[in-house]
Amino acid sequence: MYRLEVHDTGQTLTRAAAEHVVRIAEGAVTRSGRFTIALAGGSTPKALYTLLGSPEYLPVIDWGRSHVFWGDERTVPPEHQDSNYHMAKLALLSFTSLPVDHIHRMRGEIDPQKAADEYEQKLRKFFVGRGQVEDDNDHLYPRFDLVLLGMGDDGHTASLFPNSAALGETERWVVANEVEKLKTWRITLTARAINAAAHVIFLVTGAQKAERLQEVLEGESKPEELPAQMIQPLHGDLLWLVDRAAAAKLTRK
Ligand code: 6PG
Repeated sequence: MYRLEVHDTGQTLTRAAAEHVVRIAEGAVTRSGRFTIALAGGSTPKALYTLLGSPEYLPVIDWGRSHVFWGDERTVPPEHQDSNYHMAKLALLSFTSLPVDHIHRMRGEIDPQKAADEYEQKLRKFFVGRGQVEDDNDHLYPRFDLVLLGMGDDGHTASLFPNSAALGETERWVVANEVEKLKTWRITLTARAINAAAHVIFLVTGAQKAERLQEVLEGESKPEELPAQMIQPLHGDLLWLVDRAAAAKLTRK
């Protein structure tokens, strides 16, 4: 199941998203003394990071007790314009009081398989004994307090692209994923890892997403073609934050 919030514009959606992040962060710090968040790439999430990095929101989140991770990364260096880390750093991270060792980036600049293995070990080291979820096959997964996701107009999320190998991964938390249509490799959390989170929030705006969003939320289940359908948190809540333009074809609003 999921919750759906339809907001008039991308701007009002971004503000609502910021309020949800603040609420979840406060709850996590109160409960466990820290807040773990996995960031997405893309223009919609970027608008949220910019607002969170503004003087209005910057003091509201206890960044000193937060740990920032990524849901996926491109195979480029950290200062490259396509880097999800670079985008988040410019929009948000450089304004926060985040200790350097609380910023856990995926190393897009090295061999993707090595980067995926390295990140998996980093996550296992961080989350072992500090928040994990066991699935029905006794596999352990990381329990992020919040995973932010965008959705592409092809129904991908993170770097889980339609008909890509990562969709079939049932044990690993992080994989290198070949994206044929983009002729590139990505590093991405697997759906199982994302589904272990306490909260997952999708951020979707724009008329160009309307048809796909209707298929993902209301159409038949075909996760190989619509990987966003794979996101069904095991013991967490799923919230779709969409603007009116992206929601235009939904029958349930
Ligand atoms: C990436 C993202 C990707 C993104 C969607 C939506 O690395 O590109 O993680 O999953 O979130 O493509 O991006 P937009 O919001 O820009 O449409």
